[in-house]
Amino acid sequence: MSGPNTDYDPVEVTPLKSEEVDAARDAALAAIAAATDLDALKQVRIEHTGDRSPLALANREIGALPPQARKEAGQRIGQARGAVNQALAARQTLLDVEHEERMLVEETVDVTLPTDRIPAGARHPITTASEMIADIFVAMGWEVAEGPVIEAEWLNFDALNLGPDHPARTMQDTFWTDPPEDHTVLRTHTSPVQARTMLTREPPIYVVCPGRVFRTDEYDATHSPVFHQVEGLVVDEGISMAHLKGTLDHFASAMFGEGITTRFRPSYFPFTEPSAEVDLTCFVCRGSGVVTVGDVSGTEHQTPCRTCRGEGWIEWGGCGIVNPRVLTACGVDSGRFSGFAFGMGIDRTLMFRHGIDDLRVFFEGDLRFTTAFGSEI
Ligand code: PHE
Repeated sequence: MSGPNTDYDPVEVTPLKSEEVDAARDAALAAIAAATDLDALKQVRIEHTGDRSPLALANREIGALPPQARKEAGQRIGQARGAVNQALAARQTLLDVEHEERMLVEETVDVTLPTDRIPAGARHPITTASEMIADIFVAMGWEVAEGPVIEAEWLNFDALNLGPDHPARTMQDTFWTDPPEDHTVLRTHTSPVQARTMLTREPPIYVVCPGRVFRTDEYDATHSPVFHQVEGLVVDEGISMAHLKGTLDHFASAMFGEGITTRFRPSYFPFTEPSAEVDLTCFVCRGSGVVTVGDVSGTEHQTPCRTCRGEGWIEWGGCGIVNPRVLTACGVDSGRFSGFAFGMGIDRTLMFRHGIDDLRVFFEGDLRFTTAFGSEI
């Protein structure tokens, strides 16, 4: 039996040879220094410190050495591995910093560059106002009715007690469509929707109809060949002027605020009898006809309100009790039912509400206008 191999010479075990260890360490250090990015360094780490790396293999050999040789070999390998790990850590830190810096540069967003984003635009103020008006009436249980803008002459005029020779036909300058024998017009008011509603439904009727209307008017600050009206129609038993007044007062205060009400002035429309012009409390001077202004010295004085020209009221629209002839023409039993109707300009209503003095802004598509007034309501 032989004892432990005391002749065993550790330096003779190839992986543990001093030159081998130094060479493995130097190769590792050179590879680390040559790694120019984090991926390369990861690869170097596997090759030079992983399980199959020369230094890891050498480390494993240590256990096989006789005790007296272990210490020296262990130290040599330990130092070599320590040097490699240190170099790896240092390189890692450096490459991490470099990576971060490069990312900051590469991912920089130049916030001063012009964008190619298309602005979302805005809903048109007439649309939002029409919806707001419809909401006021829907909240009272009414329905929204609509009709075509190209309308039969009969519905636009005759059914509304405006026969061919009726002098009031000239109150509304009309666009006729070709050919004339079709008897078709661009509707001059939303009142044909009254006729359409009564022809197609049984009372009780509570409808509101916002829509576009057309007249051969000049295009200027207060006129346009196309504008917008809202029409209201009620047909039920026992409907009176008092219901009409109460409804319009509510509409006025819902649209313009508490304290804004209406007044009626006698008027004439062929489709209503009696008829009235509706005026609205001037919401600028709140009916007083005067406004208080301050001058540069700080003194305040009163001047006539410009919005209502000192009247305290502004013209809003027309209204009345539906003429029984219209009820009959539209198939409603005028002995049993009565009704009221009203109509006013939506554009005009918005002009008061926002102090707009030129109607044309509604039709010219300037986004600065639509954005400012379209989303406000
Ligand atoms: N249609 C009328 C106009 O355009 C307004 C109106 C509607 C008047 C309903 C009375 C009743 O002038």
